[in-house]
Amino acid sequence: TGTAGSGALDALIVDVPDFPKPGIAFKDITPLLADPAGYAGAIEGLVALAPAGIDLVVGMEARGFLFAAPVALRLGVGFAPVRKPGKLPRTTVAASYTLEYRSETLTMHADAVRPGQRVLVVDDVLATGGTARATADLVAGLGGEVVAVVVLMELGYLDGRATLHAAGLTDVRALL
Ligand code: PRP
Repeated sequence: TGTAGSGALDALIVDVPDFPKPGIAFKDITPLLADPAGYAGAIEGLVALAPAGIDLVVGMEARGFLFAAPVALRLGVGFAPVRKPGKLPRTTVAASYTLEYRSETLTMHADAVRPGQRVLVVDDVLATGGTARATADLVAGLGGEVVAVVVLMELGYLDGRATLHAAGLTDVRALL
C-alpha cells in the first residue's frame, strides 16, 4: 500500500464472498473502473511502481488488460496480450498452471516478445501467483527478461509472491 490515496483505491475494490465458488473471496474491481479519478489514480500508481528501462508491457486476459494497456501507453512502450487458448490468430506458445479455483492455459503470439526485451508484467490481482508465473514462463521462453511484476492488488495470504520468488522473479510490486 505504497502511495497516497491507496486507502481511497482500496475502498473502490469490493470483496464478494463465495464467488465464483464457496470459500473464495472475489475482488471486484468494477467500482474502481467506474470511478474516473480512482481508475486514473490506479494507473498512475502502477506507472510509479514500474522500474526504469522497460521495453514492453505484457498483460493477461481479461482484467489484466484494463491495467496493463494503460500502463504501456503511459510508459510509451508496446503492449503484448496473454490470452486464453484459441483467441490469438497466429503461431502461439502456451503454458498451463493451476489457479486458486481451477486450472488454466495461457498463450502468447510466438513473436510477441523479441529476445532481450525488458518486460514488465502487469495484472490486476496477484493471488496464488500461477497466472503471473505462467506469463513469466511464456515471456522467458521467447527470450524476454521479466524485469518486474506489478499488480494493483496482492492477496498476501495466498503467498503468490513466494511462488514468483521460487521461479526467480524477485521484483514483485503491488499498489495495494
Ligand atoms: C484473475 C486475475 C489474475 C489472476 C490471479 O484472473 O485477473 O489474472 O486471477 O490469480 P493467481 O495469482 O492465483 O493466478 P482470472 O483468471 O480470474 O481471469 P479474468 O481476468 O479473465 O477474470
